[in-house]
Amino acid sequence: MTLPSTFNRNSTADQVLEGKNLSGKIAMVTGANGGIGYETARSLAAAGAHVILGCRNSRLGEEALAKIRLAHPNAQVELVSLDLADPASIAACVESLSTRNDIPQLDILICNAGSMSTKYLLTDQGIERTVAVCHLGHFILTKGLLDTILKAPAPRIVMVSSESHRYPLRLNFDNLLVAKKQNRITAFNAYGQAKLCNALMALELQQRYGSQGLTACAVHPGALVTTGFGRESWLTQALFTLASPLTKTPHQGAATSVLFATHDNAEDIAGGYFSHCRTARCSAEAGNKDVAKKLWDFSEHHLHNYANV
Ligand SMILES: NC(=O)c1ccc[n+]([C@@H]2O[C@H](COP(=O)([O-])OP(=O)(O)OC[C@H]3O[C@@H](n4cnc5c(N)ncnc54)[C@H](OP(=O)(O)O)[C@@H]3O)[C@@H](O)[C@H]2O)c1
Repeated sequence: MTLPSTFNRNSTADQVLEGKNLSGKIAMVTGANGGIGYETARSLAAAGAHVILGCRNSRLGEEALAKIRLAHPNAQVELVSLDLADPASIAACVESLSTRNDIPQLDILICNAGSMSTKYLLTDQGIERTVAVCHLGHFILTKGLLDTILKAPAPRIVMVSSESHRYPLRLNFDNLLVAKKQNRITAFNAYGQAKLCNALMALELQQRYGSQGLTACAVHPGALVTTGFGRESWLTQALFTLASPLTKTPHQGAATSVLFATHDNAEDIAGGYFSHCRTARCSAEAGNKDVAKKLWDFSEHHLHNYANV
């Protein structure tokens, strides 16, 4: 699948959306208070979509809403509380959105939120935090919203993955959820597993729900986008500083997400992996349909122990 795209690594989200009228569309962006997610939400709202910002910190979320409204006074934006590390918060978010008469359908879901802790951290449910936020939280959210998503005429789900999905070479199901410290699972390893899960989830969403009109894909926003990402550690800070000539702005980082959330021809993108606004080749593991199905079944099975969703 090769997408003819006039856009490239330097394109911005506003350039990608220029001339598009998204009024009537309802979109949700997770992790939308800062970084790539903020620019994703802002640009979609600027193009006329009603955008729901899923944020865990209400003060930062309100600040993001205010900034968008200041830049685009007609923007239809709202905030929903969402902590992807907390199954109760995800369930409350799903409940609040799926019972709203003014949200009859969700046209676009962009699973953007992510974190990479350099410390070994577990959630209250005992799940390694990076995998909980990036994969399991998005899995629960997406499953919970699926009925509302499938009511849209041409629904789209974009999983924000990363080139880090290439490491490790294989998804380690035995150690995926707890990433045991004694097995020397490093932060980068857990992050790689989580981003591999994002790509596999897009593939399986397409397999399962493509026949019902859903289009799903995974994107890499660009490496070392100048956001708050990974800034808690001196090591990643140093890496970002060294690589600064190669970095992208968040506005550029959001371009690939919004391009594939709104590209007219769904066939071009179904189940694909995209980087810098172009078709890209994902790893063999990320493109393996058997592994994608296994991850879905694994995640679903695990939910019984994790949350009543
Ligand atoms: N930056 C890069 O170079 C790069 C490269 C490849 C892929 N990516 C991917 O791009 C996506 C966006 O990253 P970014 O660079 O924009 O990072 P960022 O500036 O750190 O933003 C991450 C967003 O995710 C939110 N988030 C973190 N934990 C959450 C939780 N438990 N529940 C809900 N939201 C949570 C953050 O909220 P708080 O503000 O409350 O923490 C923030 O809004 C991530 O999925 C990342 O893996 C980034």
